[in-house]
Amino acid sequence: MMILVKLGGSVITDKNKQNTVRRRVLNRLSKEIEEAEKRVIIVHGAGSFGHISAEHYALNKGYVDGEQKKGFALTHQSVRLLNNIVLESLIKAGIPAISLPPLSFLRLKNKKLSYFDGSWFKDALKLGLTPVTFGDVVIDRKMGFSICSGDLLMVALSAEFKPERAVFVIDEEGVYSANPKLEKTAKLLKNPSLDELKQVATSSNSYADVTGGMMGKVDSISNIAAMGIDVWVVNGNKRDRTYRALIGKKTKGTIVKGVKT
Ligand code: IPE
Repeated sequence: MMILVKLGGSVITDKNKQNTVRRRVLNRLSKEIEEAEKRVIIVHGAGSFGHISAEHYALNKGYVDGEQKKGFALTHQSVRLLNNIVLESLIKAGIPAISLPPLSFLRLKNKKLSYFDGSWFKDALKLGLTPVTFGDVVIDRKMGFSICSGDLLMVALSAEFKPERAVFVIDEEGVYSANPKLEKTAKLLKNPSLDELKQVATSSNSYADVTGGMMGKVDSISNIAAMGIDVWVVNGNKRDRTYRALIGKKTKGTIVKGVKT
């Protein structure tokens, strides 16, 4: 059995400053993952290494003009730069991390998964290596290219590997009923049912970015829980919560029980 963990781009980077890593947080999270001594597949977001250039070149619209080719290349190069820093941090913490870029193992069609080859993950796990993948620009069979978020990777990997648990490490306390940064009445949902989650995903609130922001994330979480897999959402800025989520010990955050539907 294995655990899937996503390190959100807003936790490991400063989302407002292009190409800025939050190194202290990243290194602590690497250590927490190592200390949990679990088999993991790690997914990380792009944060300011992806979102700024992806927005600048409107990459989520797909291929519309030639200018975007530079944007596609730059965005891919930039997320790989972050990926290398993540690998470095994980390896220093004692994790034999290796990189698997989505551009080389999956395709989308109208932003939805259309082809996914998990065999490299399997091979790596068999050897005791820790696969690391990340939000990336990818080929899209309808749009030319589009953006594959780390959250979509979590769904694809959950379907393929049926992990013991999926852990989302974000920069908030968990999933709220609305965007807590903008709405004072937003409540932390500690043990929401799938129905309650669906309400968050459909209510039009201020949760959005090029890959759907929190709404996209809630949708991914619901999809994973509907596969019968427990999903934990914890604040990566707070020490030990990621570690506890990995070992399955109660901690502050959102826990969604997996239900077989
Ligand atoms: C976005 O990945 C990928 C690109 C913008 C190229 P994510 O959606 O997983 O990144 P975060 O976690 O929101 O930063």
